[in-house]
Amino acid sequence: MAQPFYITTPIYYVNDIPHIGHAYTTLACDTLARYKRLAGDDVYFLTGTDEHGQKVEKAAEQKGLAPQDFVDQVSQSFRDLIPAINATPDDFIRTTEIRHKQAVQHLWDELVKQGAIYLGEYSGWYAVRDEAFYGEGELVNGKAPTGADVEWVTESSYFFRLSAFQDRLLELYHQNPGFIAPQSRRNEVMRFVEGGLHDLSISRTSFKWGVTVPNDPKHVVYVWLDALTNYITALEYPDQGGNFGKYWPHAIHVVGKDILRFHAVYWPAFLMAANLPLPKQIFAHGWWTNEGEKISKSLGNTIDPIELVQTFGADAVRYFLLREVSFGQDGDFSRQQLINRYNSDLANAYGNLVQRVLSFIHKSCDGVVPKPQDLQESDQDLLNACMITTQLETDMEALAFHKYADHAWQIIAHANRYMDEQKPWGLKTTDVPRMHTILYALADTIRQIALLTQPLLPVASAAILDQLAIPLDQRKLVGNPLKPGTPLPEPKGVFPRYVP
Ligand code: MSP
Repeated sequence: MAQPFYITTPIYYVNDIPHIGHAYTTLACDTLARYKRLAGDDVYFLTGTDEHGQKVEKAAEQKGLAPQDFVDQVSQSFRDLIPAINATPDDFIRTTEIRHKQAVQHLWDELVKQGAIYLGEYSGWYAVRDEAFYGEGELVNGKAPTGADVEWVTESSYFFRLSAFQDRLLELYHQNPGFIAPQSRRNEVMRFVEGGLHDLSISRTSFKWGVTVPNDPKHVVYVWLDALTNYITALEYPDQGGNFGKYWPHAIHVVGKDILRFHAVYWPAFLMAANLPLPKQIFAHGWWTNEGEKISKSLGNTIDPIELVQTFGADAVRYFLLREVSFGQDGDFSRQQLINRYNSDLANAYGNLVQRVLSFIHKSCDGVVPKPQDLQESDQDLLNACMITTQLETDMEALAFHKYADHAWQIIAHANRYMDEQKPWGLKTTDVPRMHTILYALADTIRQIALLTQPLLPVASAAILDQLAIPLDQRKLVGNPLKPGTPLPEPKGVFPRYVP
């Protein structure tokens, strides 16, 4: 039976339009979702928008729009990003949907029933930009540690007994070393929890834009409790059978490092308090800077992912973002570096290999897959180099997209080297059977590479597989070898060199 797999992006705040950071998380999840589907798993991939809270309310006010009209508009721009970057989520959730409000209120009632919530008064610092509370000791020069402005808040508030979960959380991290990844982030979270936890304010009364607290309509639910619940709303919580029963134990949340605490501390504590099972893993990725500078709206240096895909194509953007830095580390975005990688890895290494081999076959083998004779050691070496599915599985399981690409590109380099050494063009008049063998080995290697690059480069991989006349049912991670004599369509270049 197919193994269920559930992968989620954070839901994006709709206070502003999408930028490269949002595209990055979605692309990483999409690559893994595509890989798992190709591996035969039963995948549920969720993304969406986080539409409540003070930050969004303020943004709507600044635009002179009613919050609902404003969030409808901005949420749409996040939805539009999906086809542009070739992402394939199975669901797009909005926190303003009825299904979600009902799930949040149900979870709230459960927490009340379990005695995890009490009414009190909150006095402290709040940063609207982060939608987070900060203790006096956490402030740096009068600002949040993230640099966000803080304001003093005193209001009646419901609290969640987070302090009661310190031991259970630490036990969870110890017993499941992979629960938080990468390791360095896990250590940070553990230090934080070991330092002691305060109860968490989980309702606000000073604004209205949120899910109403059941039986106390003066309060709206704290936007993070609201937002985190999206992951189970989409699986039809409170119904715990069906999709929830099937997918929830296999959930992986991919998040940026800035929001790890909410996912790795608060979220499991809420779930424990409500007697719900926990997700399998929280993976925190790093942040992109732009040409060495922090990306921020005030610096005016945000990167528009739509412009990038219009200029370079979705495959190139996907490849660059996932290949340039190891997933989990911070990275620096440079347009020149994107162009360099495009030209060297995609146009020169991959595109040229495909073009050289397929146009050769087209011209010298009557446009059909040539028939191989006896394989020599070098031919076998090349074909063996493609047998790396176990390695690639390890890479993907670790969300090591850069390693996955690196391993795939080692085969491409091998194939290019092999072609240069074997010089099939020199055999046209002297040894046609040997030439056919070499071209067969190359074409079948390209087939295998294209199968493996599907999660990263969906468009180009499909184009290459089309040119090799591979039927759709033979496009899993591993398929059947090419059949000699199969007619091939006329080859077309897949990665034209980028010339600015
Ligand atoms: N709404 C919350 C998430 C709630 S999830 C239950 C939120 N939204 S966000 O729109 O501000 O950020 C969404 C994601 O984008 C985060 O994972 C964040 O790390 C990521 N990025 C935002 N800027 C980024 C970079 N410059 N680089 C990489 N990712 C970044 O937080």
